[in-house]
Amino acid sequence: MKQDMIVILDLGSTENTTLAREIRDIGVYSEIYPHDITLAELKALPNVKGVILNGGKNRVVDGTAVEVAPEIYDCGVPMMAIDHPTAKCECRHTEYPNADAIRGFVFDTCKADANWNMKNFVADQVELVRKQIGDRKVLLALSGGVDSSVVAALLLKAIGNQLVCVHVNHGLMRKDESESVVRVFRDQLKANLIYVDAVDRFLGKLEGVADPEEKRKIIGGEFIRVFEEEARKLEGIDFLGQGTIYPDIIESGTKTAKMVKSHHNVGGLPEDMQFELVEPLKQLFKDEVRACGIELGLPDKMVYRQPFPGPGLGVRCLGAITRDRLEAVRESDAILREEFEKAGLDKKVWQYFTAVPDFKSVGVRDNARSFEYPVIIRAVNTVDAMTATVEQLDWAVLLKITDRILAEVKGVNRVLYDLSPKPTATIEWE
Ligand code: XMP
Repeated sequence: MKQDMIVILDLGSTENTTLAREIRDIGVYSEIYPHDITLAELKALPNVKGVILNGGKNRVVDGTAVEVAPEIYDCGVPMMAIDHPTAKCECRHTEYPNADAIRGFVFDTCKADANWNMKNFVADQVELVRKQIGDRKVLLALSGGVDSSVVAALLLKAIGNQLVCVHVNHGLMRKDESESVVRVFRDQLKANLIYVDAVDRFLGKLEGVADPEEKRKIIGGEFIRVFEEEARKLEGIDFLGQGTIYPDIIESGTKTAKMVKSHHNVGGLPEDMQFELVEPLKQLFKDEVRACGIELGLPDKMVYRQPFPGPGLGVRCLGAITRDRLEAVRESDAILREEFEKAGLDKKVWQYFTAVPDFKSVGVRDNARSFEYPVIIRAVNTVDAMTATVEQLDWAVLLKITDRILAEVKGVNRVLYDLSPKPTATIEWE
């Protein structure tokens, strides 16, 4: 890292992430570390220009009062303490600072340079990755999700064909999703991409399985097995690329921030398959990952995707999955996405999709009785996916989508709009 850094030490504040974001937003890199960091550890961090002791109410973590080691005050760079007004503080004391106070500390006191941007980040990471990998090889599971796509693009830029991407099509992808992974990475970016058509294998394993958790287990487990089989066919792979991002590392507070993952067994792979990890995005927040993807030239569609569950359409084809209903989910989802994009809703609504239940209802088609499946539309807004509210869709948009689904999707005679918030419902139906 060549960028200047402001270190935030977590003394029980709930605002660490907000503060780190604020500092990065003014162009200076910032990381969060636990209060019990040692002076040696702090000094080993590159380009530290200042330290903020970020205290919460009475500086308490998990019910215990916390303080940094006294030696930390000798770290040799400017320090600022942010505390609850009633908290005792041994050093200069500021109430929760406004943007100007942060700016003043970062630029005037610490003299940090505003050199945190994606161009510099990419240049740095390319250099670091080259140093770490040398002439060895990296394996990457490329799902087509934002994080794995950005990791792939970054590693490709750094090490070219020493990167081997494996894309497993489990048959539960959305319309054109697997095709677009191949188009972008193999055809356009010339990546070394192994495409595995595992559709029959997954659908075979899932046949007759109606329980949602059982379905998830089968999909996750089978994914690891397919990936493992592909990995065993390859030779001389030492590294596994991972789309770990900063929130995965800081999680709640910073208790895990120091956990440096190196040699460890990844995602359920067998004991004898040990890889070293390459995690070039582990310093980035989600929106920075997107900005990094754009910097690397990935298409907007890939970078600004809405969240999509790992088990894919498998949890939207309700109950035991059948090919005809899976096709109905895929086609209706594609229509919904197309119409949302036309109406400008794709940038406004957090998550939207269709689900197809495993029961039929009576209808009429061409003057005759029909007995077909319904399609359920879901469109929700949320901040953290823990609670969610329903998007109040324009009636005309809903009717247009309904008309298209009824005309274009085989085996469907009704369209329903799910009005339920979370709670009591969840976002997905399974
Ligand atoms: P729920 O349905 O629990 O969903 O309200 C919250 C968010 O999580 C996504 N989701 C999943 N993501 N694997 C995933 O990677 C899963 O098994 C899974 N289940 C739900 C869901 O799409 C929503 O964004």
